[in-house]
Amino acid sequence: MSEPKVMDQQVGRRRENWASQVGFVLAAAGSAIGLGNIWRFPYLTGTNGGAAFVLIYLAAIILIGYPIMITEMAIGRKSQRNAYGAFAALAPGTPWWLVGALGVLTGFVILSYYSVVGGWGVAYVFKTLLGMLPKGTDFAGAFVGHITATWEPIFWHAVFMGVTTAIIAAGVVKGIQRWSEILMPMLAVCLFILVIRSVTLPGAMAGLSFYLKPDFSTINAKTLLDAVSQAFFSLSLGMGCMITYGSYVSSKEDLTRSAAYVVSLDTAAAFVAGLAILPAVFALGFEPGAGAGLTFITLPAVFAEMPLGGFFGVVFFFLISIAALTSAISLLEVVVAWLVDEKGWNRQRAALLTGIGCFLFGLPTTLGYGVLSNITFLGMDLLDTYDWIANSIFLPLGGLLTAIFAGYVWGTRNVAEEANKGSTGMAVGEWWAFLIRFVVPIAIAIIMLSGIYQKIAG
Ligand code: PFF
Repeated sequence: MSEPKVMDQQVGRRRENWASQVGFVLAAAGSAIGLGNIWRFPYLTGTNGGAAFVLIYLAAIILIGYPIMITEMAIGRKSQRNAYGAFAALAPGTPWWLVGALGVLTGFVILSYYSVVGGWGVAYVFKTLLGMLPKGTDFAGAFVGHITATWEPIFWHAVFMGVTTAIIAAGVVKGIQRWSEILMPMLAVCLFILVIRSVTLPGAMAGLSFYLKPDFSTINAKTLLDAVSQAFFSLSLGMGCMITYGSYVSSKEDLTRSAAYVVSLDTAAAFVAGLAILPAVFALGFEPGAGAGLTFITLPAVFAEMPLGGFFGVVFFFLISIAALTSAISLLEVVVAWLVDEKGWNRQRAALLTGIGCFLFGLPTTLGYGVLSNITFLGMDLLDTYDWIANSIFLPLGGLLTAIFAGYVWGTRNVAEEANKGSTGMAVGEWWAFLIRFVVPIAIAIIMLSGIYQKIAG
């Protein structure tokens, strides 16, 4: 069912629309489900004490994530513009366009290092496929060796950015939607295979109870902060990504329901990724608290110990690579949509030049483990610095300002009217307005400021 295309008055071009609601939901879920779910969520759960963290994360998703998801999609659909243009169109003559501009900048920054980590994932598909990580390997040494090298990670970063660029250059329906429809079912199958393997290993119960039985004594301020910033990152919120994807939705589609599907799929994927990883880690006698190294150090060790581990290792790293790719394309689309709408560039040129720009801007983060390892910021290497600035400052700030914009500038009545267009029963109303006006901004402000303070105070 192809919808009528909307005329973009500013540049006189027709705006592409998603060809179906399923296509839109899969593309948005593809954006949301990424390294955040498969790499970040399990290790955050592992380092924050297990089930209690999972519950707090769920609260953050429902109270903050879902209301902002609806808001961003409504802003996008109403304005039919990229992140920058959306704010400029809905509040003309005011400085609110700055929020959209911050989103475009954030997309560029996140993609530049996201592609580096995505490249590690692709490299590990080949390493596991070629049997380069057998039992008895020094897995920590192998990973450190990989990321501190100069050319190999740059090569995989280039491959990853190249594929991302090619998909975006192909367009919204023929690029983003088409590849989301191919890759997302593959992702689900990989995840399913891994969960079955993990929970049927002898000794998996210890991991299951760590994951499912809450112990609230482990909760502190950092747990809350980790849960909220993870909710933003995982749902692709706070940087205009869902504004951009929302701008390709026709007014006949049910936005609130699509948002609910996207949030549920993303949460389910994170939960299932934990289920695929934590029981296996426990069953084979490893520690869940390895932090960021859980994926690339602990898991290869787990696979090496497992019957048919070589196969499951390939499936796992393939899964990571697919998940990262469908998120990376959404990051690139935020920047490309801005160049196409506002600067009148054609899509191919915008994709190519932004892709090259992201590749170059990401180079310091990959070299930050090797030749540039003496450069640090607040004790962090370069990749962690990019990640910290984007995730702990830009995304919450973007989310905070978006909530204020919706609650007090464009107005909750306007947002609700747009969000409820095409609704088939799931409308937003008072509770949503209350969350957006009060709960979301206050919670984000407190959590963001305490996080920045904590980091700077050491
Ligand atoms: N949601 C992605 C993940 O969980 O890995 C990361 C991401 C993609 C963040 C797109 C922000 C964004 F706009």
